[in-house]
Amino acid sequence: GGYAERSRSIIREMKHLEGPMLPILHELQSEFGFIPEEVKPVIADELNLSQAEVHGVVTFYHDFRDAPSGRHVLKLCRAEACQAMGGDELALAARQLLGIDFHQTTLDGAITLEPVYCLGLCACAPAAMLDGEVHGRLDVYCLGELVTEARR
Ligand code: FES
Repeated sequence: GGYAERSRSIIREMKHLEGPMLPILHELQSEFGFIPEEVKPVIADELNLSQAEVHGVVTFYHDFRDAPSGRHVLKLCRAEACQAMGGDELALAARQLLGIDFHQTTLDGAITLEPVYCLGLCACAPAAMLDGEVHGRLDVYCLGELVTEARR
């Protein structure tokens, strides 16, 4: 299909880099918005790796998604400092509010929920990032506001 073909030319251009796998994956994700299943065999083929090795790298890094994201991406910090400041409660509230789990997208395609492991905002825990913008000292109310705003 289209993904496999388009990915092959991208991979061929980049495979001579030192440690080509991550730059290639980042490029493919920025091109397609996610890493389609059918590009994995192409990567494996071009880089002389097994498909299991490619799959392992894609799943190891939280950055890579296996489906297109929603129009907005909400990343909730799940690391220690934020957990200690009510991050678990906030995560539960977010999942209930959106009706989805982490790594999923709401049915209306509006919001994708992702975990993130420290946003460097520990002093303002619990923290989150919406479309690249950080928000600190969140509580359930603020979270609701953010989500409502994003859905508008
Ligand atoms: Fe959440 Fe650092 S632990 S911002």
